[in-house]
Amino acid sequence: MSNSDFYAVFGQPIHHSKSPQIHQLFAQDTQQIMDYQAQEVSAGLFKKSVTDFFEKGGKGLNCTVPLKELAFEFATELSPRAQCAKAVNTLILQKNGCVLGDNTDGCGLVTDLTQNHAIALKQKRILILGAGGASRGIIQPIMQQVPQKLVIANRTIEKSIALALEFKSLGKIEGCGFKDLKGQSFDLILNATSASLSGQLPPLPNNLIAENGVCYDLSYGSEPTIFVRWGIEQNAHKSLDGLGMLVEQAAEAFYLWRGVRPNTHAIINVLKQKSPEQI
Ligand code: ATR
Repeated sequence: MSNSDFYAVFGQPIHHSKSPQIHQLFAQDTQQIMDYQAQEVSAGLFKKSVTDFFEKGGKGLNCTVPLKELAFEFATELSPRAQCAKAVNTLILQKNGCVLGDNTDGCGLVTDLTQNHAIALKQKRILILGAGGASRGIIQPIMQQVPQKLVIANRTIEKSIALALEFKSLGKIEGCGFKDLKGQSFDLILNATSASLSGQLPPLPNNLIAENGVCYDLSYGSEPTIFVRWGIEQNAHKSLDGLGMLVEQAAEAFYLWRGVRPNTHAIINVLKQKSPEQI
């Protein structure tokens, strides 16, 4: 290990993570001297690995699947958005030795939508597919944009209803099953299920996308995901994957650690030109 400040991403599996390359590009862009590595860490070894990391002088950590809930429990302090998400993807060592837990996922999504793709969320009808951890992390940042309404549809209806109830103080949020979507249309459909990862598509009715409506998959891959392809087939105005969200959530973590914001546009373009095998 060099003498520079060091950071890491913990997860399992982690070998395909783009985060080391993204943070290396951020560091170059902002002229920061720092080191960032990916480390395979199981849930069982999480607490020990994080404790060791900070004891050795690590300044900050990203945590990904399946460790975000454990990182939430580990943090000695929590940002309001981490408290809402009940999950932490960024740990920041504070000057007083405390470890602050934050969640930059939802902010990364909203930045990608509103700034990179010029998609305003205000007064829009928004649908989230899925009611797991990925959905939970994006609800508060979406509601801050004051949509007309937010519907959460899930295979297990009880989970989407419970999630909608949990966040009801933030505005108009409904929970339902996929069948209940028939006859409705939305300006923005966000796929936060893990179905894309296994090449599956939730059972969605036709005509779900409003005129000029946008589809966005929180997942990404070297090829368009099955949900992105569905959006194109259904004539969405735009059908996007989550690469921009990945870079923007990383940029927010980088800002929390280093106090400077990298040029994410340029870096998203670099990543788009490379296949995952090259990264
Ligand atoms: P994550 O942290 O990625 O959100 P998760 O908490 O396990 O992972 O949640 C996965 C989500 O994807 C859930 O909403 C799940 O639906 P259930 O709650 O009914 O299990 C959804 N999901 C996974 N595979 C799916 C599929 N093939 N079709 C539809 N929904 C699916």
